[in-house]
Order: sequence, then C-alpha cells, then structure tokens
Amino acid sequence: MEVIIAKDSTDMGRKAAAIFAGQVAKKKDTVLGLATGSTFLEVYKAVPEFSRGVSFFQVRTVNLDEYVGLEASNKNSYRHYMNKNLFSKINIQQQNTHLPNGMAGNIDEECLRYDTLIEKLGGTDIQFLGLGMNGHIGFNEPSGSFILSTHCVNLSENTRSANAGFFGCIEAVPKQAITMGIKTIMQAKKIVLCVTGAQKAGILSKVLYGPVTPSVPGSILQSHNCVTVIADSKALRSV
Ligand code: GLP
Repeated sequence: MEVIIAKDSTDMGRKAAAIFAGQVAKKKDTVLGLATGSTFLEVYKAVPEFSRGVSFFQVRTVNLDEYVGLEASNKNSYRHYMNKNLFSKINIQQQNTHLPNGMAGNIDEECLRYDTLIEKLGGTDIQFLGLGMNGHIGFNEPSGSFILSTHCVNLSENTRSANAGFFGCIEAVPKQAITMGIKTIMQAKKIVLCVTGAQKAGILSKVLYGPVTPSVPGSILQSHNCVTVIADSKALRSV
C-alpha cells in the first residue's frame, strides 16, 4: 500500500485528480470506478485543470452506489451529483456513465444487472473510494461478513447522520441504498482511497493497520496488491 500525504483537502483533491487524468491519458477507454460524498467534491473540482488535452470520449464509468427511492433528477441522488460535479465538466458521453438505478421496480434484478454490466465492461481499471465514518466503502456497511456482489443495504444511523448535511436533516436521508459489493471493488486493477479530516483519523488507522474484518469494511483493502491512499495530515495523525 502506498500512502501519499496531502497538505489539506484541496491538495488531496489535486493529487487524486492528477492520478485520475493520468489514467485516462494512458488508456483512452479506461473503466473508472467512481465515488461520491464530500471528499470527492475536491477531487472532481480539480479534474478539469489536470485533464487539459485529455479526452474522456471513450471512457466508461461505474459508480459505487445510489440511494433507493431517489429519482435521477433529485438533487440528492448520486446521479445528479455526478452530472453536476463531474460529467458536465468533461467530454464524456452520458451513455457511458453508469450508476445503480435506485428507482428500479425490482431491486434484486437491478443488483444483478449492475454486476453483469461491470463484468461486460471487463471490470474497473481504477476504483476511487472514499471512507465512511464507520469504515464503509461504497455503502458496504459494517456487518458480520463481507457482502461480495451488488446489493441493497440498510443504511446505519451513523451513515445517515453523516450524510444529513446534504439533505438538510437526517429524516430526509433515504434508509436504503444499492452498493457495489466488496468482490467487485477488490477486482479493480488499482484502487485509490481518498480520506481527509481529523474526524476520520481513528477509522483510517483501523483501515490501514487494524485487523481485516467486515466490522471495518475498508480494512479489506489491506489484501489488495495495488492501493494508493491519499490522505491529508489531519486524517493521518496518530490516534
Ligand atoms: C458516503 C458514500 C461513499 C463515500 C463515503 C464518505 O456515504 N456512499 O461513497 O465515499 O460515504 O463520504 P464523505 O466523503 O462525504 O465523508
């Protein structure tokens, strides 16, 4: 595991954006695995600057997760977040961008469809990840076992409260989401984990140095052979 220390969240965003653009410059039809949340606002903000002269026309993307019950047009859906913060800023073809459909009539079928889609794309070349306050990656919440494939998850109170800022209050945060599973995440050729802020120092230390356990889902990354962690000094401070 390589750990890159960023000065602050802006620097983290720039370092991750450089890797993002560099990957696409190297492989035009890259399959990018993408994340959302506040951490990635900094990354996507920096992507245009680092992508000058880089074309995204052949790039395909698959996002980690989506809330159940939010229309794509809802400003809190991850589809809306991605369109607003990234896809509208680069020359990607909209039909090449994929997220789970949280409005699907049959959620189990939707999970299967998403796994099949990722498989058909040949898996992700590079998977970007944020880290939840409870150690979740994507929306793989702490549990008794690692759930391998795309699935519907009941969001914990901790996660709903961490995301309440986007929604205005915790009551408005959906109770469920569809998330890519641990196996798909771990099959990425390369993984970049982005973490900032003192409030994540404790959980980041467990992810990096604690036992590999489904009660800290991000700890599974210790078993991947190509992980880069980009974290600011506050998140990396010893706890
Ligand atoms: C959210 C998302 C994750 C994200 C993580 C951290 O709930 N589902 O994909 O990486 O939790 O979010 P944030 O960056 O806002 O702390």
